[in-house]
Amino acid sequence: MDLSFKEGVLKAFEEKFGASDGVKCYFAPGRVNLIGEHTDYNGGHVFPCALTIGTYAAAKKRDDRKLRFYSVNLDKTGVIETSLDEFKPLKDDNWTSYLKGVMWAFEKRGFKMDRGLDIAIYGNIPNGSGLSSSASIEVLTGFVLRDLYGFDVTNVDLAVIGQDAENNYCGMNCGIMDQFASSMGKKDNAIFLDCATLNYEYAPVVLNGMKLVVTNTNKKHKLVGSAYNDRRRESEEARKILASVAGIKTLGDLSNEDFEKHKDAIKDPVVQKRAKHAVYENNRTLTAVAALKAGDIETFGKLMNASHVSLRDDFEVSCEELDVLVEEAWKVPGVLGSRMTGGGFGGCTVSIVKDEAVEDFKKLVGEAYRNRVGYDCTFYVVSIGDGPQVI
Ligand code: GLA
Repeated sequence: MDLSFKEGVLKAFEEKFGASDGVKCYFAPGRVNLIGEHTDYNGGHVFPCALTIGTYAAAKKRDDRKLRFYSVNLDKTGVIETSLDEFKPLKDDNWTSYLKGVMWAFEKRGFKMDRGLDIAIYGNIPNGSGLSSSASIEVLTGFVLRDLYGFDVTNVDLAVIGQDAENNYCGMNCGIMDQFASSMGKKDNAIFLDCATLNYEYAPVVLNGMKLVVTNTNKKHKLVGSAYNDRRRESEEARKILASVAGIKTLGDLSNEDFEKHKDAIKDPVVQKRAKHAVYENNRTLTAVAALKAGDIETFGKLMNASHVSLRDDFEVSCEELDVLVEEAWKVPGVLGSRMTGGGFGGCTVSIVKDEAVEDFKKLVGEAYRNRVGYDCTFYVVSIGDGPQVI
């Protein structure tokens, strides 16, 4: 957590909304996924962790029904004002839709805000990096509402409500992973989540003498209206076919062997590849978590590499920039594993790097990326942090 962001957001609140007496400050984290990609909406497992970067808020209830929003990061748009009577699912098209979407999703569940709200936010997740800035805003909003309006919901509910807002208010058909990672984050632990049941378990990420390095391609990715929805459709097509021949409910129910036995029922080779990724990636995640629990980071790293290959070749959600980062990372001695993380088509990679190799990693990968791609990537040595909190 970076307390200068708390000061920043408080100052912004005072400037935009007047007096800051009675204002409370909050934080909710972004996330990085270690393994288990594009498995969440396939009824599989994911293994993300919350970061110490995220979104900060300063908020205070009002006496009327007005809603006023301000983002320090998007200062140009100024204060955006609306009211509790003006929620427009799938029509609001600016950043406030993440907050309004959460208010709307609460209201849908019978949690009515009796009065309006002034809220300023300020984030330190690089924009468009695929580290879930939007999920962090949704979880932050849910957490603020629970605190200020006394809504009786759990942190798991905050994830579900955040996903509902994203799917049905903002129009992005994401799975549960990002919101769950943010709302359930735990310092130094990754979350082993079964997305079919929402059963979860924390697993300590003990990296003795190693660091988690996130590398940003600085290529903006855009999920809404992109190939993400195509992948969901293709996965669903495969699921239906395999449900009829193999009696499964989700692709996450299949072992690799059973998939191989039944895969020829899927006639479209592209759809078959998509299903292969979803099945193998889920099983890879189970193996990877077992390896991590046994302290076998080498195996964990190799499975991260295999995850990238599968995302690149079978699920086809990587891109040249991500592939360059990963290929160059694999060449550096002291790198245990490296893969794209998140939705893909841009955003970041995640790598496990020995302490003594981190400087070389930055230098070698950084130079090669500039030569091959033509602009710079950015490195963040990240720490695993807690979920949402009052600060
Ligand atoms: C995005 C979505 C998640 C998940 C990942 C891919 O981050 O928001 O729900 O599907 O892509 O693993």
